[in-house]
Amino acid sequence: MRVLVTGDRGYIGAVMVPFLRAAGHSVDGLDTGLYEGCDLLGGPDPIGDRAPRDMRDVTARELEGYDAVVCLAALSNDPLGNLDKAATYSVNLDGTLNVAQAAKDAGVERFLFASSCSLYGAAGSEAVGEDAEMFPVTAYGETKALAEQELSKLADDTFSPTYLRNATAYGASTRLRLDIVVNNLTAIALTSGQVRLESDGTPWRPLVHIEDISRAFLTVLESPRDVIHDEAFNVGRSEDVVQVRDIAEMVREAVPGSTLSIAEGAGPDLRNYKVDFSKLNDTFPELQLQWTVRKGVEELYDAYQRHGLTLDDFNSAQFVRLRRIQQLLGAGLVDGQLRRQTDGQFPGPKEMQ
Ligand SMILES: NC(=O)c1ccc[n+]([C@@H]2O[C@H](COP(=O)([O-])OP(=O)(O)OC[C@H]3O[C@@H](n4cnc5c(N)ncnc54)[C@H](O)[C@@H]3O)[C@@H](O)[C@H]2O)c1
Repeated sequence: MRVLVTGDRGYIGAVMVPFLRAAGHSVDGLDTGLYEGCDLLGGPDPIGDRAPRDMRDVTARELEGYDAVVCLAALSNDPLGNLDKAATYSVNLDGTLNVAQAAKDAGVERFLFASSCSLYGAAGSEAVGEDAEMFPVTAYGETKALAEQELSKLADDTFSPTYLRNATAYGASTRLRLDIVVNNLTAIALTSGQVRLESDGTPWRPLVHIEDISRAFLTVLESPRDVIHDEAFNVGRSEDVVQVRDIAEMVREAVPGSTLSIAEGAGPDLRNYKVDFSKLNDTFPELQLQWTVRKGVEELYDAYQRHGLTLDDFNSAQFVRLRRIQQLLGAGLVDGQLRRQTDGQFPGPKEMQ
């Protein structure tokens, strides 16, 4: 298939694009390049070989000839949503809907939307399936819920959106992120010797490795239309719905000499939910997700050691989305809606310190 991946220069895209190509698909990317230079161990191809493109400006003409669009592009976590709710809505909702409408107008038949289990929000103690009500507790979660509802209105005989509600991701990527829990705790443990919890460790988190996310997207891409048309799937493994303190314990065991500490006065985190993944398993019995959190922690530890990750890296804008965006905003390289203000390459995060 000819596939366009938006947000291909991000954390998941850097793993998913080679994964889809290895399965024989022809894949192009589209990205505004917010995280150019934020690389671990080499990084993706420099954006220099392709002009940055904002998905809010994409037209149907640019999407002609594709069989599918995979929409990863987003402001992709809760702290970014808190920084500026309007920017999060502009990118995650308006941008997604613009690409989807352009895809539909261009005759692209499939649209795989990277949604998130965070749209379930504070869902309580029962594991939630796809029919559960959405209770997003952040702007980011709200945009994912609203985007799904609006995309569903575009679904018809010629256009099949699918909503892949990913659990919180983990795993090594050349466009590493340290603002997600497994990656974060492993990095702190390695660079400071402490596995430090900012919440009391009781919240439940569903987790999934980024290669397994890529595996699920590939399966949806290649499945018959009637199986995936206007359907939502939670993406993850029931074995990897764990409490944050379990993750901390796995990290402590994997990082020699590290100790576990809980921040004084820490309470529980609002984001607390268990997720049921049986629809994914029942619909796609051939799909075998292969990673465990423990294996992922070991992979990360190894990648960080090879890169020589330091406490300075950890505190810099290199691997933390919010800090990088604040850097770009401060230098006027993007405006308040996070639109690029230059056609040239952004300076890397270290050059801007
Ligand atoms: N990482 C997770 O834990 C997780 C969990 C569930 C869902 N998701 C979803 O998966 C997708 C990918 O996540 P990620 O972790 O790779 O995010 P990321 O922030 O690493 O990458 C997102 C990419 O989108 C690009 N982008 C942002 N705004 C754009 C715009 N207006 N036009 C074009 N490109 C733009 C950025 O430059 C970046 O390369 C997101 O939609 C995210 O919400 C991620």
